[in-house]
Amino acid sequence: MNAVKTDNLKPGQVLAEEVRDVNGRLLLASGNEIQSNHIRIFKIWGISEVNVAGTDGGGDHADSELDEELVEQIKNRLMILCRHLDLEHPVLKELFKLAVQFRCNHDQIEVENDPLVPEPESQPEPTKQDFLDNLRKKKIILPEIPAIVFELNEAIANPMSSAEHIGQVVNRSPSLTARMLKIVNSSFYGFPSKIDKVSHAVSLIGTREITSLALGISIVSIFKNIPKELVDMVSFLKHSLACGIFSRVFAAHHNLGQTEQLFVSGLLHDIGRMILYVHFPQESRIILSRSRNRSKSLYREEKNYLGCSHAEVGRQLMKQWKLPLLLENNVFYHHNPSVAQQVVPAAIVHLADIVVNLLGIGTSGEKFIPPFDQAAWAALDLPISSFEKLIGQATHQFRALESILHD
Ligand SMILES: [Fe+2]
Ligand SMILES: [Fe+2]
Repeated sequence: MNAVKTDNLKPGQVLAEEVRDVNGRLLLASGNEIQSNHIRIFKIWGISEVNVAGTDGGGDHADSELDEELVEQIKNRLMILCRHLDLEHPVLKELFKLAVQFRCNHDQIEVENDPLVPEPESQPEPTKQDFLDNLRKKKIILPEIPAIVFELNEAIANPMSSAEHIGQVVNRSPSLTARMLKIVNSSFYGFPSKIDKVSHAVSLIGTREITSLALGISIVSIFKNIPKELVDMVSFLKHSLACGIFSRVFAAHHNLGQTEQLFVSGLLHDIGRMILYVHFPQESRIILSRSRNRSKSLYREEKNYLGCSHAEVGRQLMKQWKLPLLLENNVFYHHNPSVAQQVVPAAIVHLADIVVNLLGIGTSGEKFIPPFDQAAWAALDLPISSFEKLIGQATHQFRALESILHD
């Protein structure tokens, strides 16, 4: 019997000891021949090592050497993106190191282009009051809460909601139904047989998790028409989905309940920016170009130009749609969680956002890595030594779910 790192497993090897996930769910019994989908599922659930039969350890050698020239290039590029961070802080030091490794190995999901938007000449500066007035007026034309979001929100709040009831709500939207079934049949969940009914998915995965997923997906799909010259929509969705997944993984590691609420918080954390891009394209164009031309973070430039940031715009929507208070807390404070009413969940979304930006998985238009709230980190108390494993787990989950963005 040999312990073999999951990264070095090969299809055809035989499992010598059963493998279970963190919740005790059996992933594969001993004696089974390991297939490539099993390896994927082990990675998704953060199984770093398994015991296989036989004397051939499966090539468990030291990690392959990275190309030094490439490492230097990536380090230099990341240093520019990190200009608003103190890289001497132990958390950021470790994350920077992991981000360099990740970017060396995962070119394919890195942001490829960063369209520079020329700053329009001498635009008048609106005052804070102008913008907030404008936003209030825009509320009239912003979509009112769609019935399905309202019903899903009600279903989450009601602990007595049945699988049948949730299934009926989701089934009213054919596109949501198709997307939900795609998710539950993805390797993210790894169920052995095909699930073709939402109510079946609800009973397998759980009411809260499935309704939260449906809620998040429904809201994100409402704002799908971001002008292409401002930010690429698929890239924006990648950033949002990755932030949702990383938030959930950090929350689970922190033993925080309601991990599905953290997933939705991460998914929606930059929803305010979506509203700005869709409903205020002219202002967004100016803010984007100022951020790039002045090397300031987009978040700061929003505040300088509009008097409020996308986090405040997001909160307006959360309030208007009467979404759960925890979501409002996490969205509003995701850039300064130490002053939140609920610091830990907001700090988790904050950390997820920084990590996803460092790794370069999609973008919400922010060129620089957003500032790090050190006081919130103290409250979060995650071991730095766990980052590598958690990032590995979350990126595998991201790959398993990424396909839902392409339809
Ligand atoms: Fe943000
Ligand atoms: Fe973000």
